[in-house]
Amino acid sequence: MCGIVGAVTSRQAQAILLAGLHRLEYRGYDSAGMAIVGENGIERRRTVGNVQELDDALMAAPLAGVTGIAHTRWATHGVPAVSNAHPHVAGDGRIALVHNGIIENYERLREELKQGGCRFESDTDSEVIAHLLDECLRRNPEMELRDAVREAARRLEGAFALAVISANDPSRIVAMRVGSPLVVGLGIGENFVASDVPALRPVTDRFLILEEGDLVELTAAGITVWDFQDETAVRTTLRITTDTGDADRGNYRHYMHKEIHEQPQTVRDALEGRVGRARVLEPAFGVNASAVLDGTRAVTIAACGTSYYTGCVARYWIEELAGIPCNVEIASEFRYRKFVVPDGSLFVTISQSGETADTLAALRIAQETGFEHSLTLCNVPVSSLVRESELAFMLHAGTEVAVASTKATTAQFVALMLLTILLARRAGLTAEREAELVAALRQLPEVVAQALALEPRIRALAEQFMDCHHALFLGRGLQYPVALEGALKLKEISYIHAEGYPAGELKHGPLALVDDDMPVVAVAPGNELVEKVRANLEEVRSRSGRLYVFADADSGIVEGEGVTVVEVPRVHELLAPIVYTIPLQLLAYHTAVLKGTDADRPRNLAKSVTVE
Ligand code: F6R
Repeated sequence: MCGIVGAVTSRQAQAILLAGLHRLEYRGYDSAGMAIVGENGIERRRTVGNVQELDDALMAAPLAGVTGIAHTRWATHGVPAVSNAHPHVAGDGRIALVHNGIIENYERLREELKQGGCRFESDTDSEVIAHLLDECLRRNPEMELRDAVREAARRLEGAFALAVISANDPSRIVAMRVGSPLVVGLGIGENFVASDVPALRPVTDRFLILEEGDLVELTAAGITVWDFQDETAVRTTLRITTDTGDADRGNYRHYMHKEIHEQPQTVRDALEGRVGRARVLEPAFGVNASAVLDGTRAVTIAACGTSYYTGCVARYWIEELAGIPCNVEIASEFRYRKFVVPDGSLFVTISQSGETADTLAALRIAQETGFEHSLTLCNVPVSSLVRESELAFMLHAGTEVAVASTKATTAQFVALMLLTILLARRAGLTAEREAELVAALRQLPEVVAQALALEPRIRALAEQFMDCHHALFLGRGLQYPVALEGALKLKEISYIHAEGYPAGELKHGPLALVDDDMPVVAVAPGNELVEKVRANLEEVRSRSGRLYVFADADSGIVEGEGVTVVEVPRVHELLAPIVYTIPLQLLAYHTAVLKGTDADRPRNLAKSVTVE
């Protein structure tokens, strides 16, 4: 997705900015650009394709100057094209701006600006901000750039991080963040700004993480931060010496453990720039997303393994909130069966790697057999699924090294809920209900952190699983796929045979397996199905089964002889699958550690299954 780098220094800025852009390539993008303010004012270069194209263009015609901004763009408004690439300029080229995020009210602003005589060069929402700034500065030529940014920002709805330079003052960059990440890098006699720490690691290890609504002015000599209320603010400086933060296990014994613990942040990252104050921002799903979603009358999801289970949760969400049919398919089955394509079908693939052979084959078949549109929810921007799908939503979970998927899974859930809300909006979801769901999503990182705090309890429980040969996982409704996922996690990394079942199916077969040797794990938040689940658990208890129940305080399920209850934090009912997945990841992980299996590289499995 989009990336920002800015530098104000006393050496030539071009090389620093280019190096930063190269380090942002992993986020995925379709064009790149740079603007530097030099002796002749602001000059810029923009190219479509790899950063290398920009590199070549700059090699042929370098930009001279010590202050500049650069950007990698992932198209949301307007196709990938040089004219849509950032930086955008306004005021006869006296202002240049780079922007990450989505401006929701850009159409209205664009119309107003056009009526005022403004001419637009691009189809982007971002260019609106450049013209708003110019308008402020024309009205009040004495106005400081930072005041113009503050004033323009007041008119913007949506999520954004931006950095601006002005030919009137080549010695500074003004940057601001509202709903999209931005960090400041502190140098000696130079300062930097970027959307992401890795972009600046070659030039500094001292970072200042801006808070929501912060506006910052950078000169080579120093930085000043103003908070949302326009008061000067002090932000703590962090020393970050690791390079990407991803490929490094830090103090964790396993990548899987680290990745489980990254989830408060990865859930936040999956949301960042995709939700406004009370709404999901539609272009987050791509340039053509609105038109595609307008025509969507049915959804087919295809995926494998854990990604398939997240799709199974989405079926409940989509059919309940959007009221359209949602079919979820195991990709390796789908590709070899005859199927009917419902009218107005959107084909959705879900994949951490973007290279899973069966999922890719399913996409290709869908494209040949009449599915009108395709969307992938994927964690790897330079992957086959992203390349071959019409729309792509990047999960932003960072590199997932452990074979067993954890942080990509919770990011997939977030992506699927955002998609559900957009589909539901077309089916009459009220603004109040959408705001309620967005508020619950915003709280999710905090609830995920609370779920992670259950770790000591779960580590102790794992001792009761390590010698088992089998385990059953039960759930109902939204929690049924969570039970399937819990069983998959346990079996793949601890090699304990585990099965997930809808709790109502127990007496149709699996109950025969239950005895005092068989741990039965149940996922049972206090929702409308909890009474049914309790009845199912009684069936287990009366056969001397050992019950381990993950439930919240509303479930009314209490510990007793043969029943262990782990209290999971309360969360919005529809988001419960995301939170209940976490303790099951921890249970699988600690059981594997106690058994001494390799939690990161389970036998016979590969991270990216590129063969059938
Ligand atoms: C299980 C796991 C696998 C993957 C599956 C699909 O923990 O990681 O089941 O979910 O192989 O992989 P992706 O999501 O890369 O398509």
